[in-house]
Amino acid sequence: MTDTITDPVQRIAAEARNWRRDIHQHPELLFDLPRTAALVAAKLGEFGVDEIATGIAKSGVVATIRGKLGDGKTIALRCDMDALPMGEQTNLAYASKTPDMMHACGHDGHTAILLGAAKYLAATRDFAGTVVLVFQPAEEGGGGGRVMIEEGVLERFGIDEVYGMHNQPGLDIGSFSIRSGPLMAGGDRFIVTVNGRGGHAASPNLAHDPVLAAAHLIVAAQSIASRFVDPLDSVVVSITYVSAGNDKALNVIPGSVQIGGTIRTMQPDTRRAVEVRFRDIVATTAKLFECEAELDWRPGYPVTVNDPAKTLAAISAAVDVVGVERVDDAAPQTMGSEDFSYMLEKRPGAIIWLGNGDSADLHNAAYDFNDDAIVYGMHYWIALTAQQLGSGKNHRQPE
Ligand code: NI
Repeated sequence: MTDTITDPVQRIAAEARNWRRDIHQHPELLFDLPRTAALVAAKLGEFGVDEIATGIAKSGVVATIRGKLGDGKTIALRCDMDALPMGEQTNLAYASKTPDMMHACGHDGHTAILLGAAKYLAATRDFAGTVVLVFQPAEEGGGGGRVMIEEGVLERFGIDEVYGMHNQPGLDIGSFSIRSGPLMAGGDRFIVTVNGRGGHAASPNLAHDPVLAAAHLIVAAQSIASRFVDPLDSVVVSITYVSAGNDKALNVIPGSVQIGGTIRTMQPDTRRAVEVRFRDIVATTAKLFECEAELDWRPGYPVTVNDPAKTLAAISAAVDVVGVERVDDAAPQTMGSEDFSYMLEKRPGAIIWLGNGDSADLHNAAYDFNDDAIVYGMHYWIALTAQQLGSGKNHRQPE
């Protein structure tokens, strides 16, 4: 830890540890976060922020803090607040009190970190411009970030830039990792219904067999990744659901087959091209076997793309906190998805990984957010604010 971590931040981080454990004991899901949102709003009120808006995307909370050094731009610092529908197996004293719900992705930690930073920033206000604190619901599958944007949060609060943070198991405590450009994949899902004509299994010539059509479709879909996309670009096609016929009627060709799955892409252009290709394959493969296909395409989270200039700003802030040797600026890309991507589509910004040390993986029943990461996360938000909103003292100016 460098000497840029000052005593007030340490003191608040010790409090934030208790907030984190409180939130951890009371996990809530998706858009339904009444207790968590109330806790966040109450704390922000205690801290004396300038404005608190609740009920955005049902349980999202947004607060503003204006600097004392005058006017400037407006940056948003965003965290997620929701837990996961799974049972906790940590044996912690502060384990979840709700069966089949747990904070297995560390959003309890993200919330405590942003609250801690808010307390410090509201007390000091040593910047020019405005910090908007965005506490969002429904990161785990509900697209809470998208709903907040649809409800006008970017315009309502005049947000110019957006910044996110997520903990990373396996990355040392007191380390950060980030990369410019695409960081996490876009994830779309689909259900295809192949409709043919059922019949006697002994007379396939009188039927239009949707099973054979679906089997070819499953194989043909893999040609998207292997034959259609640049080998240096990343695409995953996974068929995860197949349903047809029944095991009491093995002499019957069924009338229809359903298959479903997900397609992950790492470039926005590729994402669009792959969807077009997949639609072609579905329609033409079905036709080849005298069947018809209905495609239910379900767009998921977009590709998470860090803005190059804002990534430099994030790197510079992280370096201020922990030193250059503990900031990896070439983080590996992952095929997982993150709904901060919606905000990054609308405003320049960047999301950074915060080291969670040697913990269980995200979404594992044995996972726990590491409280020792709180002080680093808080100080990152504070350093980023100082840098981007120009108080300038002892901080690099990357742009
Ligand atoms: Ni998460």
